Order: sequence, then structure tokens, then C-alpha cells
Amino acid sequence: MLEQLKELAVEAEGKIKRVRTLSGLNNLRVEYLGKKGPIQEVMKNMKDLSPDERKAAGQISNDVKRTISEAITAKKEELELAEINKQLAEETIDVTLPSKKTILGGMHPLNAVIADIEDFFIGMGYTIAVGTEVEEDHYNFELLNLPQDHPARDMQDSFYIDDHHLLRTHTSPIQVRTLEAAKGQGPVKILCPGKTYRRDDDDATHSHQFMQIEGLHVDQSVTIADLKGILEALAKHLFGPEREIRLRPSFFPFTEPSVEVDVSCSECGGDGCSLCKQTGWLEILGAGMVHPNVLKMSGFNTPEFDEYYLEGPMYQGFAFGMGVERIAMLKYGIEDIRHFYTNDMRFLKQFK
Ligand code: PHE
Repeated sequence: MLEQLKELAVEAEGKIKRVRTLSGLNNLRVEYLGKKGPIQEVMKNMKDLSPDERKAAGQISNDVKRTISEAITAKKEELELAEINKQLAEETIDVTLPSKKTILGGMHPLNAVIADIEDFFIGMGYTIAVGTEVEEDHYNFELLNLPQDHPARDMQDSFYIDDHHLLRTHTSPIQVRTLEAAKGQGPVKILCPGKTYRRDDDDATHSHQFMQIEGLHVDQSVTIADLKGILEALAKHLFGPEREIRLRPSFFPFTEPSVEVDVSCSECGGDGCSLCKQTGWLEILGAGMVHPNVLKMSGFNTPEFDEYYLEGPMYQGFAFGMGVERIAMLKYGIEDIRHFYTNDMRFLKQFK
């Protein structure tokens, strides 16, 4: 019987040594130390022994149980430690590895052109004014000297929302709103960038949504010479110091006189090429002297606000408006306006 117990101890220790998982170890504990284990089985025969032998057998069985239990505890610690070490090894961070590259976006070419033009005009004392994309007919047309049914409304095919509201067709309503807010007192010197909408079929040079920048300077002695001077400086700033501009007579209901402004072709320098259609000139914007009706309708040069009114109108000024896409296309040699709005990364990446 004593032999049996010792053999059991050897056998159990061998198995404990070989077990590789905590759950396997737990199975061994149940197998050897549980109520139905082999040690209990052997001890059932105790009743056949003499009292002295019984005492010795009890002692040995306790020793065997303790040995096995100690072996299990030691193994458990070993397995747990191994587990922790394995986990630590798996989770170590190699700080010497190169980091993942963060991809930084770039500025959209239209925003870059707007920021550049804003910078230029802020340096000349202009402030930035903004309006809303949904505009009242009253501000988009009527106060700009385009009464209902005026044929010139056809120049700007519009998206109407209801009888009185539309998506603004130009940034000019901002100049009217700013003039109105000034209550007949100049100077007003603003630059208005913004999104605009017209019912055009989209193609390489037309987009139903586009961007404009409007400029307005109204004061007591602003002349068309000032307009020409500032636009020439702008053209040189945008396209290079050798660029010249020319003014051609044109028509806008809200300016009188009105002009179309061309810049000498940046591609051929004025000799004629395919970009300027052999003319040597590229059209970049529309402008003119603010129409007296526009000034009057927005509260300038009227008896209510102007105590010197009887001596004649005091305020006059110029306005100009340009398409941001057109400027960006000329500046960067982009041949299709749709590139600005289709978010092709191959296009956008070139402007980083
Ligand atoms: N608002 C005009 C347009 O969109 C441009 C313009 C602005 C012309 C200011 C003259 C003066 O066609």
C-alpha cells in the first residue's frame, strides 16, 4: 500500500511536470486530489491495517497529497509567469520602427486663389464682406437696377426657390446690402467672395455652381482711373509683372459706364496663341462705375441721408466682379472647369 502511494506520487509529479496549460493542470488537480482520486481509493483499504500501520499510512498519504499539491502550486506559478511573459513579448512596442506617415491635405486651388486675392485687397484697405447663397430677388436683381421683366435678367438664368427667393446669380447683392447698411455714408470699400449659381449646362467652361469675387469702392472722389489702377495692379499680382490690361466698353445694368477687362496673354505675352485665340488678350472680369440708380436705391446721394444733396450727388464709386474658376484656370493652365468640383485626387494633389 505504501508502495502504491509512492508510485502515485511519482506518476502525478511526472504528469504535472509535462502539463502545458493551466486548464490541464486543473484537470490533474481534480484527478489526483479529488474525492474520487486514486489516493482516496488506496486509503479505502486502511481498515485492513493494524493501528500502527494505519498511522504510518495516514502520514504517508498526507505527505503524498502535500507533495502533489505543492508541485501543482509551483507549476501553476510557472505557467502563469510564462503566460505573462508571452503577453508582454507580444505587446512590446519597438520605438525604433519608423512611424506611419500622416497624410496632410492641401488647399483647394479655388480657395488658394481666393485667399491670394483677399490678401491683395486687404493690403489696399478693403474689408471682406459675405452674404447668403439663398438671396431675395429684391437684392439679387431689383436694387441692382434690374426691375422685374428687365430683359437683362436673361443674362443670368436663375434657380428660383419661390416667387421672391433664388440662389444668388452673382455676388453683387452683397454690395447692395453693404451700401444699404452704410446708410448713405461712405467710404465703403469691400471685397465679397462667394458661391454663385446659374442655370447653365455644365461643360468645360460652364458650371451651374461657381465662385465670384466682387469688389466695391464708393467714396466722394473715386474715379474710373482708380478702378483701372487697382485692376492693373491685381493683374500683375496674379499673372506676373509684365502683364498689361485693357478696358473694353461693355454693359451691365448696375454700372455705367461698364467695361470688360482683359489681361495680356500670359502664354504668348500678347503675340497671339491658341489660349488667347490669336487675340493676345484674355478676358478676366467685368467692372464699371456704380450706376447712380443703384447708389440712390441703397440710400446714397439722397436727401434723407445727404445734407449737401442739393449741391449734387457726392458719392460715386466702382465695382468689379470676377469668376474665381476663370482666374484659377488661367493661372494654373487648367482646361476644364469640372476638375474643380469632381474631387479627383490626382488633380487636387498637384496643388499641395
Ligand atoms: N455681377 C456681374 C456678373 O456676374 C459682374 C460685375 C460685378 C460686373 C460688378 C460689374 C460690376 O456678371
